[in-house]
Amino acid sequence: MKTAILNFSKQLAYQPVIEQKKNLNKKKQFIVLGMGGSHLAADLLQEVAPNLPLTIHSDYGLPAVSTTTLRDSLIIASSYSGNTEEVIDGFHEARKKKAALAVIAVGGKLIELAKKHRVPYIELPNTGIQPRSALGFSLVALLAFTGQTAIQKELKIVSQKLKPAAFKLAGKKVARFLQNRIPVIYTAEQYKSIAYNWKIKLNENTKIPAFYNCVPELNHNEMNGFDIVESTRHLSSSMSFVFLVDRTDLSKNKKRLQILKTLYEARGLPVLQVELNGKSVLEKALRSLLVADWASVYLADYYGIDPEPVPLVEEFKRLVG
Ligand code: PA5
Repeated sequence: MKTAILNFSKQLAYQPVIEQKKNLNKKKQFIVLGMGGSHLAADLLQEVAPNLPLTIHSDYGLPAVSTTTLRDSLIIASSYSGNTEEVIDGFHEARKKKAALAVIAVGGKLIELAKKHRVPYIELPNTGIQPRSALGFSLVALLAFTGQTAIQKELKIVSQKLKPAAFKLAGKKVARFLQNRIPVIYTAEQYKSIAYNWKIKLNENTKIPAFYNCVPELNHNEMNGFDIVESTRHLSSSMSFVFLVDRTDLSKNKKRLQILKTLYEARGLPVLQVELNGKSVLEKALRSLLVADWASVYLADYYGIDPEPVPLVEEFKRLVG
């Protein structure tokens, strides 16, 4: 896992090849079918390109969209392993509905199906890393289908200056803060996918409970759960909060996070602010996720956990499939 983190920037320089490209039905709208680590790239793309008509579907079948939307969309079945049943189900459904289809995977059944049915596909490099660690490969591949040239260019520039090892120290600091605590990650709505990504790295790499939420929504409900009195103090006594803050953010959400920090600390809840740094949303996200990567693996070291495998996910897939 540490090697995968150190090699992350190289993923961003990957040049995907669309196989069976002549069958690619170009569209301006996109529906990504993906579970877990295989929809993280799409989540991030939604944040980086908020005007891109992109729907993410993490379930069986297809999302409930109008016939017109379905007709005008390219459905991208994304599964790192290529064997995730929800996504394969969506693939079949899309074929039944004669929708425009494309596939992203390292192999597995999805690539077999794509070859069989002449569906355009990108076969990701199989470097043996975990799906959640392959965010760079997935993002670059996704962009090859959505065609966001400005983001593709930016990614190349970021890949040259992003040095994963430089985030070790920041990750260590977070890991120390979170030792023996249940992490809760908060950020502003516009950075939702970053907070979600932090949470899943802690769940899957460190194998601990971790949660996330965003302002302003959480100010209307969740925070009230932390208005501790003596009889409820034990319920949140293991929780520590990481606030992902953007100093350059001009929105009112920045103020909300500041106020919330004061209110939580007054109630004895530990809060660590981690800054989102970078020239663009994309750079901020990638830098922050490297901090999360290191934090999650250092915390895994602390608990004596192997960050790589996810045996419970595998066991569950066996039982359900
Ligand atoms: O990170 C993981 O291992 C999981 O979240 C997987 O991504 C998820 O189970 C879906 O599998 P796949 O990415 O192979 O479609």
